[in-house]
Amino acid sequence: MRKMGLFGGTFDPIHSGHIEMALCLAEALALDSVMLMPTFVPPHKIREQMAPSEHRLAMCRLAAQPHANLTVSDLELTRQGASFTVDTLEALQRLYPDTQWYLFTGADMFCTLRTWYRFADIAHMAVLCTVPREGTDTAALLSYAAALETDGIRCYVHPKPVQTVSSTQIRTLAAADQPLNGLVPEAVEQYIRLHGLYGGGESDCRTRNEQFIAILRTRLGEYRFHHSLCVAEEAARLAEKYGADREKAYTAGLLHDILKDTDGKSQLQILADFGILLSEVEQSSPALWHARTGEVFLRHILGVADEDILQAVRYHTTGRAGMSLLERVLFVADFTSADRTYEDVEEMRRLADLSLEAAMCYGIDYTIRDLLDKGRTVHPDTVAAYNDIVLSEERRANE
Ligand SMILES: [Fe+2]
Ligand SMILES: [Fe+2]
Repeated sequence: MRKMGLFGGTFDPIHSGHIEMALCLAEALALDSVMLMPTFVPPHKIREQMAPSEHRLAMCRLAAQPHANLTVSDLELTRQGASFTVDTLEALQRLYPDTQWYLFTGADMFCTLRTWYRFADIAHMAVLCTVPREGTDTAALLSYAAALETDGIRCYVHPKPVQTVSSTQIRTLAAADQPLNGLVPEAVEQYIRLHGLYGGGESDCRTRNEQFIAILRTRLGEYRFHHSLCVAEEAARLAEKYGADREKAYTAGLLHDILKDTDGKSQLQILADFGILLSEVEQSSPALWHARTGEVFLRHILGVADEDILQAVRYHTTGRAGMSLLERVLFVADFTSADRTYEDVEEMRRLADLSLEAAMCYGIDYTIRDLLDKGRTVHPDTVAAYNDIVLSEERRANE
């Protein structure tokens, strides 16, 4: 039987205290995983500076990403309307048969459990767990748990406290554009800044690209970070030369490999979170994943809304038939950026200055040959890109 933790909360924002609690309970109880579930907040309860649910969800995903045993569910958010814990547990039991659930509650909520709607059913479906916070009364938790246990209810109170982190304090600091100093995971802090959540961001005079660069710095190794800056420069240069949008090309270049240094398991989790299935060919080619997952990450987690940029990122490894100008610019820039040193790079650069199509043709040819040499599968989009470019060159020659 699987053992899973359920940790619900408004997570506005999720912070290091939440993550510490999830990880320490997971370890102490030998859980297979812990599901973080941001709760829906009814309109009348929304505070003035509350982050919209999509932001609370995205921050949970960012916080969970480095931890293989943390997952995020949007079950309560998509259900809309008030959710009772008992309804959520019933839904989870249907979705995850053969699972023992462990319900996590904060120390303050634990001692109110008996007042929860259909408490007896909750206690029947889950083991009730909590962790004392520094400075809270552990004895009160233990005696409440002991009373529950005499009624045959299964409980667990962790013996050691976790750090006390206040969401209010985080929101106040964010509003004043003050550093959050580890109160939230770094990726969450960047997200709060990027979206100007909690009233902050007014004095943040960095441009969006500067904010993206700060994010890349924490997600990519030295080599890939340098590569991304070089591709951005090259994409901007090619955009100018061929009449594409220079700004968009620069941003697409910065972001194209954003998940390239993220491990495969986390990448697959991102796809699973958004219900995206990989084809068999894609499953067999982990080198392609970062383009697909990068697009999904940028769209749903960093909130990039520009379709041109998103599609350019998505197709930068495989190409496809009918690529837009920006897609072609990024595809070629990834081959010709200043950091590239492969054998034919000078020929590729020469072609890129002649025409994007000539460089594309060379690049796709190179990619397909390389895959064939290695006995690997060729993505159908790459074949389609190849045919498309050859046919359009033929048409041009016949004109
Ligand atoms: Fe890439
Ligand atoms: Fe790249």
